[in-house]
Amino acid sequence: MNRLCELLNLSWPVIQAPMAGSQGSALATAVSNAGGLGSLPAATLGLDALALELRVLQGLAGRPYNVNFFCHTPPPVDPAREARWNEALTPFYEEAGLTLPVGPASAARVPFNQAALAVLEGFQPPVVSFHFGLPAAESLQRIKAWGAKVLASATTVDEAMWLEAHGVDVVIAQGWEAGGHRGMFLSDDLATQMGLFALLPQVVQAVKVPVVAAGGIVDAQGVRAARALGADGVQVGTAFLWCPESQTSPLHRAALVSAQAGQTAVTNVFTGRPARGIVNRAMRALGDGHSCISPLAPAFPLATTAWGPLRAATESLGSSDFTPLWAGQGAPHCQPCHAADLTRLLGQAWGS
Ligand SMILES: Cc1cc2nc3c(=O)[nH]c(=O)nc-3n(C[C@H](O)[C@H](O)[C@H](O)COP(=O)(O)O)c2cc1C
Repeated sequence: MNRLCELLNLSWPVIQAPMAGSQGSALATAVSNAGGLGSLPAATLGLDALALELRVLQGLAGRPYNVNFFCHTPPPVDPAREARWNEALTPFYEEAGLTLPVGPASAARVPFNQAALAVLEGFQPPVVSFHFGLPAAESLQRIKAWGAKVLASATTVDEAMWLEAHGVDVVIAQGWEAGGHRGMFLSDDLATQMGLFALLPQVVQAVKVPVVAAGGIVDAQGVRAARALGADGVQVGTAFLWCPESQTSPLHRAALVSAQAGQTAVTNVFTGRPARGIVNRAMRALGDGHSCISPLAPAFPLATTAWGPLRAATESLGSSDFTPLWAGQGAPHCQPCHAADLTRLLGQAWGS
């Protein structure tokens, strides 16, 4: 039996990537019931919402599921940087006839903390995963104490080795192709981030724990390629955005099925951290001229606040000019389908 399936009690070595803001327990339930590992993203959930979602997942009657958290260090407030960011966004606000929000930026995404851990302890989920590193050793011990397996994303060989040394049970090798935020935490050097074809075999060689391949995998061919390169399983995000069980917004869905989906880039303009999405006006306009990275963006997650009213107003008019459209490089190859069918298709491609 595949060692990832054995470790996590799965029928298929297929993990549905947690996708904050785009899905909840409905998608996770469908994937877990089909024999894969469904994931609940908790990065944007308050404690009450987290508990509600966990209650739903507890009803899975023995099927495993994963709960995912961000692990960033909240940045200090930097009024000068925020003022420069507001200035950069002012022309868009003026064009829309709106006023920029006043007051300091708020943290739209709270990192894993003691309060979330207390909620988790009440539910004891079988799998917990982290993005942007790991929580403190003591928290990790408490999670492992109820028997949970811990997974975390690595974008370099160094990060994979660090995660293994700090006690993760599974490393997720996140290639440059991946949609959403880059899980990078030891380095912020985007220029040295690797594609999955190069990263995966090097991570497999560097660590002993199972390695899951993530980034650009959307179909059977991608699964077979990941297996051939030594992966123990796959984590797939973008392809699940198309499923009716996800909460992908109509604007996001429209972008995914358009010709635009073939053009994704890594940008920091929406949150302050590099993340891959379909290129839109905000990314082009605020990039540094060579990329969609802005030197002005406040540190994660503080770049988010200033977008709020502009996004709400333009989205209500049917425009995704200022909306993050997270997607991986495999987006043009996706097909609309139910989550259970996609899980089985990917699982069967893995073979036995
Ligand atoms: C819409 C979207 C949201 C994401 N949100 C999260 C998240 O909350 N936590 C996380 O660990 N990874 C997140 N990711 C990254 C995934 O874990 C994974 O690395 C990525 O989806 C793999 O690439 P793919 O999208 O090409 O399949 C997100 C990805 C997408 C597309």
